[in-house]
Amino acid sequence: MTNLDAAEKRAALVLAAGKGTRMRSPKPKVLHTLLGEPMLALTLAALEPIFGANILVVAGHRADLVESAFPDAHLVIQREQLGTGHALMTAMTDLEKTGAGEILVANGDAPLVTTRVFEDFIARANGADIAFATITLADPGAYGRVIRANGKVKAIVEARELAGNQQCAGNEVNAGIYLFRFNSIKNLLPRLKNANSGGEYYLTDLIGLGVEAGLEVSGIQCGSDAALLGVNSPKELAAVEEILRASVTNSLLEAGVIIHAPSLTRVSPLASIAPGAEITGPCEIFGRTGIAAGAVIDSHCVIINSRIGENARVRSFSHLEDAVVGPGAIAGPYARLRPGAIMESNSHVGNFVELKKTRIGAGSKANHLTYLGDTEIGANVNVGAGTITCNYDGKNKFRTTIGDDAFIGSNTSLVAPVSIGSHALIGAGSVITRDVPENELGISRARQKNIPRRLK
Ligand code: UD1
Ligand code: CA
Repeated sequence: MTNLDAAEKRAALVLAAGKGTRMRSPKPKVLHTLLGEPMLALTLAALEPIFGANILVVAGHRADLVESAFPDAHLVIQREQLGTGHALMTAMTDLEKTGAGEILVANGDAPLVTTRVFEDFIARANGADIAFATITLADPGAYGRVIRANGKVKAIVEARELAGNQQCAGNEVNAGIYLFRFNSIKNLLPRLKNANSGGEYYLTDLIGLGVEAGLEVSGIQCGSDAALLGVNSPKELAAVEEILRASVTNSLLEAGVIIHAPSLTRVSPLASIAPGAEITGPCEIFGRTGIAAGAVIDSHCVIINSRIGENARVRSFSHLEDAVVGPGAIAGPYARLRPGAIMESNSHVGNFVELKKTRIGAGSKANHLTYLGDTEIGANVNVGAGTITCNYDGKNKFRTTIGDDAFIGSNTSLVAPVSIGSHALIGAGSVITRDVPENELGISRARQKNIPRRLK
């Protein structure tokens, strides 16, 4: 929760319609990822604790892709991208409907801004008609320059509009986060012009217009400079991603997570890893993965949106997505747990074993070269090497169930739908097409013949 004044109703608007020309990519810029999360997801996650459902996103370039990546977002479509000021104009009707008195506007390409930075900024804006966040950069590059006279903000001048007489502008630049009184933008927006070198409506011209109109305008130096950096090119994306990576691993180390190769470990800011968990080498731990105390993740694992229980172990080169590894369970090396894989406590899944929509019961084992799909396995089952559930007939998927304490011999094909009772035994090399009742032996393979060889 936030400690901001609750009486003031606020909405947030994220500008995400631009093409991101400098990324030179067919994808909209805000869908490019940092540690597995699209930039826009990080900005939305930072705004959500403050603004709840009152967050609007302006999309335009390939808005269809933004919409399918964020089906729950409140999108406003800016059909032609005529500049950041035009993006704001496009959203005015929807913003008015929120009934908010103050509007926070944030560029969608500054993914390091945290809830804390947004909160500090809003608190320090302290009711100004227009406030914006500034940072000071050794090389202000393409950022909009903050022009002040006697310390008071006069205007923001875009880098490409800097005329000779403004070259004296300092290194203080606009970070691309603004807080507007709704009524002040409502009055100023109609005065925005696009008579500039880019032929764009610059949102930043609202600052000069506000000063001319006698409004209270304040430029607030806030956050660390690195936290407000924008992403405009692949090089900036890599730099910003590295800043985020280092900050996430540092906080994990400080909290008591043991990480043996922190500079090579990439953990999403949305993941949570308990103190006492251990990562023994380079790994990618993405999405809302949760790792409990005492769990050990060996090097070169990719773990996405998965839960790893207490004292579980994921051995090297395993790939997990939307999977659960229960307490004390062991996966890998070279395990592949696909969505819906659930390993109950103390179960084992070994090398070259793939699980999809499959629950493997407590203490059960599938240690070698196996595919288990759409399968429910009880407790203390042994699945022999090379077992395959044949769950797909080319059109439909079918389920396999295996009862407690069953033993599946090696190189068995279980042709689904099929059910193996508890304590059943399947002979190695069988192709099982009919149910095997509990306590019975199922075997289906050609009887071996030994015939004398014809020697020359
Ligand atoms: C902008 C600011 C600049 C500031 C910098 C901080 C303007 C005119 N300039 O410059 O002062 O220093 O951010 O990073 O605002 N967008 C739309 N619709 C459009 C154009 C852009 O939604 O028609 C979105 C983009 O997707 C992006 C954001 O607005 O997320 C900023 O646009 P961008 O082109 O990156 O602006 P900068 O040149 O970086
Ligand atoms: Ca930018």
